[in-house]
Amino acid sequence: MMTAFGRRRGVWQAVMIWAAWVSMAGPGWAEPVGDVASGKALYIERCVLCHGSKGHGWDWGQKVMRPPVPVPNLVEVVPQRSDEALKTVIRDGGEAVGLTRFMPAFGFNMSAQELSDVVAYLRSLYGQGK
Ligand code: HEC
Repeated sequence: MMTAFGRRRGVWQAVMIWAAWVSMAGPGWAEPVGDVASGKALYIERCVLCHGSKGHGWDWGQKVMRPPVPVPNLVEVVPQRSDEALKTVIRDGGEAVGLTRFMPAFGFNMSAQELSDVVAYLRSLYGQGK
């Protein structure tokens, strides 16, 4: 009787210690929170030529040939994707999610924070603000 109670208390203590540790670990432990302004700057620098200023697609006019695959309208596609899926395609390129390599991989020069920023900006394009 006493031992069963003692053991349960031990479990509770372990849970409390774990919860305290997780809450102390805070943001450093979770995914970085995206910053829309920084994401916009990154988007204009690296994505706008193919995806257009509003995410609607190709902005090169007649100057350069379009890629042989359609550039998706991000305003329509992004709401259907999870943050993780978006980060994967931006970080590892189209082939990582079953698309083509005409969507290049940016992971080699994008930090986790920058990825979150770009995703936050993509979400702001359709006004969800998340
Ligand atoms: C060289 C042109 C090009 C550049 C630069 C580019 N993309 Fe793409 N992107 C594409 C193409 C083309 C596709 C569609 C690929 C396919 O359908 O096979 C695509 C697909 C995507 C998708 C996937 C949509 C889906 O269906 O899930 C996302 C998200 C995306 N791009 C975001 C970005 C972001 C963010 C950047 C800038 C960091 C960027 N792209 C830069 C051409 C580009």
